[in-house]
Amino acid sequence: MDVIQSKEELHELVVAWRHHDEHIALVPTMGNLHAGHTSLVENARKFAERVVVSVYVNPTQFSPSEDFAEYPRTLDRDTRRLKKIGADVLFIPDDATVYPFGHTCATVVSVPGLTENFCGATRPGHFDGVTGVVARLFAIVQPDIAVFGQKDYQQQLVIRHMTEDLNLPIRIITANTVREKDGLAMSSRNQYLSEEERKIAPVLYEVLADIGAELQDGNRDFQRLEQSGAERLTAAGFKLDYLAIRRAQNLEEPKRDCDDLVVLASAILGKARLIDNVVVTV
Ligand code: PAJ
Repeated sequence: MDVIQSKEELHELVVAWRHHDEHIALVPTMGNLHAGHTSLVENARKFAERVVVSVYVNPTQFSPSEDFAEYPRTLDRDTRRLKKIGADVLFIPDDATVYPFGHTCATVVSVPGLTENFCGATRPGHFDGVTGVVARLFAIVQPDIAVFGQKDYQQQLVIRHMTEDLNLPIRIITANTVREKDGLAMSSRNQYLSEEERKIAPVLYEVLADIGAELQDGNRDFQRLEQSGAERLTAAGFKLDYLAIRRAQNLEEPKRDCDDLVVLASAILGKARLIDNVVVTV
């Protein structure tokens, strides 16, 4: 595996791969890799001969009050992990490569509508940071395919929207959420949980899965389902940010007889803000 910092060096490789008609998949990450991330790499392998994993802790998607400074940076461990699973390139651009004009003069890529609610409402500017950096990584790497996790449901929808709207010739793949044995979705932020909080954390998925099962059984009393789920989370010790049942396709309010649904939630436990979701296909 090559560890590459410069876009010129990456380009040379990409040009050589293309010359051999090889397809390229990109897996963008902020590092501190866990089995959720490596599953994206394994997914990428199914679609492309070459897999580039980027590790870049993107400052523009963190608000000043968020954990940019403390975000775990574990490059040596990440490198070993990626070597083991056979990624072709670990791309670790620096700030000047990603934002040549600096953050304040950076071109903004913004998806309205989809980013207004849920994580967009509680983390103002967050999705502009995500679309901005993903658009830049797409432009630098020029992949055929890019893989994102279902765990960040709204994020993958926003990226799909951006890619389609800008006619970027990149196929977006969404990979299933990888969970701990007790159901907790894997996340770099789980390590902010105390031992006590870690025991409570799986309740988030339990509640979402129960609502998902009710919906699957035909229950369409969305408001009551949301409310009782919210009560269960609060009683367990979470500070609820949102819990909502929405149309899976675009996060709009569902109709009673509608298509696929997603139950999505964000809740704070101690220092950690956890998000998770369950998709219900009808
Ligand atoms: P990060 O949180 O590092 O996540 C990188 C990718 O891994 C995202 O697509 C995310 O959805 C996926 N992922 C995280 N936990 C997962 C799990 N338990 N199961 C499956 N996939 C999981 O998301 C970001 O970074 C950034 O916003 C990024 C897209 C890299 C832009 O900076």
